[in-house]
Amino acid sequence: MLIVLLGPPGAGKGTQAKTLAETLNVVHIASGDLLRDHQARGTDLGLQARSYMEKGELVPDDLVIRMILDRMSEESGRQGAVLDGFPRTLTQAEALEASLEGPGIDQVLYIAVPADELVRRLGGRVICRSCQRPYQQDSAPERCADCGGELYQRDDDRPEAVQNRIQVYEAQTFPLVEHYRSQGKLKELDGAQAIEAVTRDLLAAVAA
Ligand code: AP5
Repeated sequence: MLIVLLGPPGAGKGTQAKTLAETLNVVHIASGDLLRDHQARGTDLGLQARSYMEKGELVPDDLVIRMILDRMSEESGRQGAVLDGFPRTLTQAEALEASLEGPGIDQVLYIAVPADELVRRLGGRVICRSCQRPYQQDSAPERCADCGGELYQRDDDRPEAVQNRIQVYEAQTFPLVEHYRSQGKLKELDGAQAIEAVTRDLLAAVAA
């Protein structure tokens, strides 16, 4: 089973992907988490990605495609995957489709949220330095409830980077909505609801 979670920055992809992957017993592969992990480890890829990520620009397609396809082949023994944050351009979508055998992507779940709510969520977000679980600052525990890691604010959640990320999303990633709609694979969900309601709708969409 291969599910793609699509949506703007702050839509709740990371929040929902974790629950969805655990419930479906598949692996969660998040491009942003992998890139931040490369940065934390100081790899060549992490160093190359840093300047793009700080500004809220997309990391070049060839780097991201190689990273994700490598990760998917490492996990090929698993029942499937939830992809979170990839693909993000038509070039990435085509590379993913070309790499897959059989039916390819099963479903693309598009989490739609209005821009003012995205800005509010990202401005108040903190994430775990260790497992990258996101929280809202005003209701976050002292340390990560899953692993005890330290919580911090991402560099790209500064207001100027957030505005750029939303514009980059609209220009480069939003066209994927139509791409997958035309393939009959897209389901759109209301991501402005409470977290539990979005989870319920996602699970219902997968089961339908
Ligand atoms: P990435 O880490 O993927 O960032 P993003 O897509 O901008 O998504 P976010 O992590 O910001 O948001 P999310 O949708 O996961 O929301 P979350 O669940 O955290 O990418 C970062 C950067 O890496 C990119 O800018 C780019 O530079 C690079 N990159 C990554 N992938 C790439 C690719 N494929 N190609 C090229 N470059 C790439 O939730 C947000 C907040 O809201 C949290 O605080 C959460 O607690 C809260 N929240 C969640 N759901 C709800 C809800 N229903 N109600 C209220 N609050 C909620």
